[in-house]
Amino acid sequence: MKAAVLEHLKSNPGGYVSGGGIARTLAISRTAVWKHVCALRAEGYRIESRTRRGYRLQEVPDLVVPEAVLAGLTTRFCGRSYHYHPILASTNDRAKEVAWEGAPEGTTVLAEEQSGGRGRLGRSWHSPRGGLWFSVVLRPKMLPARAPEVTFVAAVAGVEVLRSYLGVEVGIKWPNDFMWQGKKLGGILIELSGELDRINHLVVGIGLNVNVDPGDFPTALQGGVISVQEICGRSVSRSELLQQFLAALERWYLVWLAEGFAPVLAAWKRYNACLGCYLRVSTPEGELVGRAVDIDHDGALLLDTGGEIRRIVTGELLMGAGDGNE
Ligand code: BTN
Repeated sequence: MKAAVLEHLKSNPGGYVSGGGIARTLAISRTAVWKHVCALRAEGYRIESRTRRGYRLQEVPDLVVPEAVLAGLTTRFCGRSYHYHPILASTNDRAKEVAWEGAPEGTTVLAEEQSGGRGRLGRSWHSPRGGLWFSVVLRPKMLPARAPEVTFVAAVAGVEVLRSYLGVEVGIKWPNDFMWQGKKLGGILIELSGELDRINHLVVGIGLNVNVDPGDFPTALQGGVISVQEICGRSVSRSELLQQFLAALERWYLVWLAEGFAPVLAAWKRYNACLGCYLRVSTPEGELVGRAVDIDHDGALLLDTGGEIRRIVTGELLMGAGDGNE
């Protein structure tokens, strides 16, 4: 009902909407309208009220609240069940809980801020207000061995949205870092629950530095990370970016389910920011140095170490400044 009251307030931009009119259309009391207005104010909406004129929406907060996201969402299932939190330890942890409780495919958990955000390889992920920190539950009927392919699905979806939204050449560093001019703009953490022969669910955790001030990052990270706000020179609508991300994720996920990994990998290669480069690669077996020559059919990186082609299934590319938010 709060969302419906907000829709009424938005229906007359810059002007007044009568409280009695809202109450009549929604078949609620004027006191109920007032209570919803108070709740919206508590969320950061600036709403003026004038006797005999009604309510006027003066400012919409930059919050990724359900009202803001669901209104323009074009997806069939991604984000349709939307769990919003001002603060969480980690959206991936909460998404795993709701997945176990039976949340439908596409359920999305978002937090304005994370107090214990997690990155790949056991690292922590700095998640202040202003970023987009969210996790999506997927339930593909696949063997767990194919789960790493979803990393590429999410990376391709993200890079397409960032490119079209920002109009700049964002690239992907293997396997799933969003990069711009050597600096990290965001990353993906996929976690799996399954048995040997089936996936119960996947949690696709996405972190994007959107309206984050570079000064908000710990000193050790500054220089290696960048935000959408810095690239654009202005803050952008996080709800819109999230809507587009969810739409692209759903589109590429359906392509992957219907056509397999090949089209996803082909798109990933078009957007890659690492093939052809000489790199150091940190792997569980130690550090390797070589030229990244290709991605194998299953997503492994092929590194030419000078005469020998090594297959790297998991690891971290060290290619200069932009090595992460850890
Ligand atoms: C990386 O190391 O590059 C992956 C970072 C993934 C961070 C996101 S933020 C939302 C979700 N919740 C977490 O705790 N981590 C992921």
